[in-house]
Amino acid sequence: MTNLKGNLLTFIKVKMSIILAFDIIVVALSGSERGSWADCNCTACESSGYVCETDGACMASTYHTNGQEEQQFRICIPRVSLVPPGQPIYCLSAEGLLNTHCCYTDFCNSINLQIPSGIAEGKGGSWGPVELVAVIAGPVFLFCLLLIMGVLVFQHHQRNYNHRQRLEVEDPSCDHLYLAKDKTLQDLIFDLSTSGSGSGLPLFVQRTVARTIVLQEIIGKGRFGEVWRGRWRGGDVAVKIFSSREERSWFREAEIYQTIMLRHENILGFIAADNKDNGTWTQLWLVSDYHEHGSLFDYLNHYSVTIEGMIKLALSAASGLAHLHMEILGTQGKPGIAHRDLKSKNILVKKNGTCAIADLGLAVRHETITDTIDIAPNQRVGTKRYMAPEVLDETINMKHFDSFKCADIYALGLVYWEIARRCNAGGIHEDYQLPFYDLVPSDPSIEEMRKVVCDQRLRPNVPNWWQSYEALRVMGKIMRECWYANGAARLTALRIKKTLSQLSVQEDVKI
Ligand SMILES: Nc1ncnc2c1ncn2[C@@H]1O[C@H](COP(=O)(O)OP(=O)(O)O)[C@@H](O)[C@H]1O
Ligand SMILES: [Mg+2]
Repeated sequence: MTNLKGNLLTFIKVKMSIILAFDIIVVALSGSERGSWADCNCTACESSGYVCETDGACMASTYHTNGQEEQQFRICIPRVSLVPPGQPIYCLSAEGLLNTHCCYTDFCNSINLQIPSGIAEGKGGSWGPVELVAVIAGPVFLFCLLLIMGVLVFQHHQRNYNHRQRLEVEDPSCDHLYLAKDKTLQDLIFDLSTSGSGSGLPLFVQRTVARTIVLQEIIGKGRFGEVWRGRWRGGDVAVKIFSSREERSWFREAEIYQTIMLRHENILGFIAADNKDNGTWTQLWLVSDYHEHGSLFDYLNHYSVTIEGMIKLALSAASGLAHLHMEILGTQGKPGIAHRDLKSKNILVKKNGTCAIADLGLAVRHETITDTIDIAPNQRVGTKRYMAPEVLDETINMKHFDSFKCADIYALGLVYWEIARRCNAGGIHEDYQLPFYDLVPSDPSIEEMRKVVCDQRLRPNVPNWWQSYEALRVMGKIMRECWYANGAARLTALRIKKTLSQLSVQEDVKI
């Protein structure tokens, strides 16, 4: 026990020589007390009857032993140990002591100390100026420090982000091969087709192109967002912007467009996909060729077509679909692709009056080797009005890839009906109508469609007068053979293409 006290005193002396700002307890001394001698209680002075004499201060303090037990001790502090030396202004506490009381009259340190819950309580709640400054300035200083660090981290992040953006957009080391200033999109795509990758521009070129497009005006709205006309190097491009919620659809459509060897004059020409994070949200872009006539639906609403115009539209649509459906074997081959949402709003009309099949977001690909479909197909996707009977009544065999192609053919037949109605032969043509306009309401339910198409086995009307014109007669026949209830009995896209090619020769159509 004596040993412990001796050690403690040595410890206190060493500690007292260190001035710790937060351990200082200020005691203002009255002038009369300075320089006088006092007797103090001394827990370490067994030999002198627990009394010591000091020219400085009497001190009482508490400390913990074993981390828990409270011990009190009392000692004399000589004048020379007061701070500043010889001029007792401060009585020092030391690290490890929980409460320190200094005083300057005889046995004034006999008081019973309580373990404080804080330094302030040790002083009976009265705050000295140094403590006040420390208590107020400390947290304020800490807060400012955190704030400054936050601002610095944010600035650093922003600088890095901007730097990255600049690198991605401008880094000439990556892009110069492809993006020499005088190159147009046509040149780029030509380079691409001769370089032979067959699946699209390299990703960094796609990104660079996408990020230098200037958007002009909205040209369409669909399932997933907006379609804009944009400008790039003096030419027009179409930009389909997906909302960030539709990331999967964006990714899927970009993936399908980049299927090896998909490029075809009657399939919308894909240019770039880009996901641009502007710090707050992600913009998902799909850039493609722009076609000023817009969709076949818009086109037929505006214009009637000549027989030649009808054949061009129908033949080019069949060519696009035949290419999409076709499976090309070999390393540079392409898988068969079914569209699953073929309709006049998803086919675009090019300047030369031919079609380009667009909106491949719901397409599925056939994995030849495993004879499987590349995504788990859900039962009924697409537009209800154009759904084949086996899709409406859910009898479609989804394990069999050809089933999806047959469903596309049914929809193509409906598109042909929309085109043929607008064919101006001998001065007669009909107004534009959607298929089943006379049998179901707008935005029909699956049930309404199923009743008409499956139960009543109704199909759009093929007028008798079409028989008087060879082209319309052929079109009518093709439509009927696209609409069989039995999917397997329908024509193939390739068969339709051949039939219409012959017709175009007969009718002297220049494509
Ligand atoms: N490349 C393009 N050129 C001109 N118009 C386009 C182009 N792509 C889309 N559009 C217009 O935007 C509409 C919606 O485009 P689409 O790709 O079908 O989007 P969604 O998947 O949202 O249906 C089309 O019906 C068409 O009117
Ligand atoms: Mg669409």
